[in-house]
Amino acid sequence: MNIRGAQVLVCGAGGFIGGHLVNRLLDDGAASVRAVDIKPFEDWYQKNPTVENLVLDLQEKSACIEATQGIDAVFQLAADMGGMGFIENNKALCMLSVLTNTHMLMAAREAGVKRFFYSSSACVYNGEKQTNPDVVALKEEDAYPALPEDGYGWEKLFSERMCRHFSEDYGLETRVARFHNVYGPLGTWQGGREKAPAAICRKVLEAKISGKHEIEIWGDGHQTRSFMYVDDCTEGVVKIFKSSIEEPINLGSDELVTINQLVDIAEEIAGVKLKRNYNLTAPRGVNGRNSDNTKILGYLDWEPSIKLRDGLARTMAWIEQQMLTGVTTK
Ligand code: NAD
Ligand code: GDD
Repeated sequence: MNIRGAQVLVCGAGGFIGGHLVNRLLDDGAASVRAVDIKPFEDWYQKNPTVENLVLDLQEKSACIEATQGIDAVFQLAADMGGMGFIENNKALCMLSVLTNTHMLMAAREAGVKRFFYSSSACVYNGEKQTNPDVVALKEEDAYPALPEDGYGWEKLFSERMCRHFSEDYGLETRVARFHNVYGPLGTWQGGREKAPAAICRKVLEAKISGKHEIEIWGDGHQTRSFMYVDDCTEGVVKIFKSSIEEPINLGSDELVTINQLVDIAEEIAGVKLKRNYNLTAPRGVNGRNSDNTKILGYLDWEPSIKLRDGLARTMAWIEQQMLTGVTTK
């Protein structure tokens, strides 16, 4: 199915990836875009006045029915989520996103939506495959037998499964991407939901600006991750949406770094060298996680490729601008 000419709905459009996706779908020729989020409009990270913007709580089925009227293509990104600091301490809240996913699937089916995209997460993967920082990258089949991240990961795995059964039993075409840690400008960089790339950029800048050349790092710094720049994410979403890929697929960078290496890069961009204080009781998550991109390369002959150094420089420049102008995110 093509984006060009389609009536498109983006759920979670006031958030980080959803905001970028609205612009990307317009660039791709969507006939119309309806953007929905629960946040008051003034708190949206990006506001595009050329699209239809609605403030709705998509946990309510009636709101999902309103949102899906006349829609061909749904991009379901709305969720209560954040980095490790948020998901470790808000498991019930994370799991309540199951209401949004359930009601959105039901409403999409009833409205005759042609295709439904769902943003899943690398947090669906079995924890036993992520105990070593020196990780073997995660293949799609590593989600089963199931031992996902408590709370948030279980909800994502369940909702992935619901997409599959809505497809098999009701003929609703679904596409599911497992995002690996996404970062970039116009995302959450403070307030408790921020993920490591934005948090480290902010902390490095705070240390530089204050002249107190110290940084707190959660964990021992040896844990590993891969980080995907947001432009690679929206590119991948569009490619997966248009494709014939019916099973959940990794959408992530395979440039693996330790958290210490992430800090090295951030320090180098900012032109500072900081004393590192490791907080061993802070939220840490799995010891190591990387994306195996064999499947996406096989299907699309494409994988995320923006280098962490380049993406982080753009992200840090944006965060610095927010700090200097006193802007806060909610
Ligand atoms: P985000 O928090 O910036 O955006 C999510 C948006 O959903 C928020 O603006 C929020 O207000 C909205 N929302 C929450 N509950 C809602 C409701 N009941 N009704 C309407 N809107 C609601 O997060 P993001 O980083 O843009 O993530 C988008 C999606 O991608 C989420 O589903 C997330 O789980 C998934 N994901 C993101 C990452 C990442 O690293 N950013 C990684 C894996 C998966
Ligand atoms: N957030 C954060 N803030 N993490 C830090 C910090 C800090 O100041 N310092 C070090 N870290 C470490 C964390 O302890 C963790 O080990 C690692 O950096 C990555 O943390 P996050 O970016 O918060 O989360 P994640 O990679 O474990 O999980 C994220 O990505 C998933 C997809 O791959 C989360 O955002 C999940 O919600 C998401 O689904």
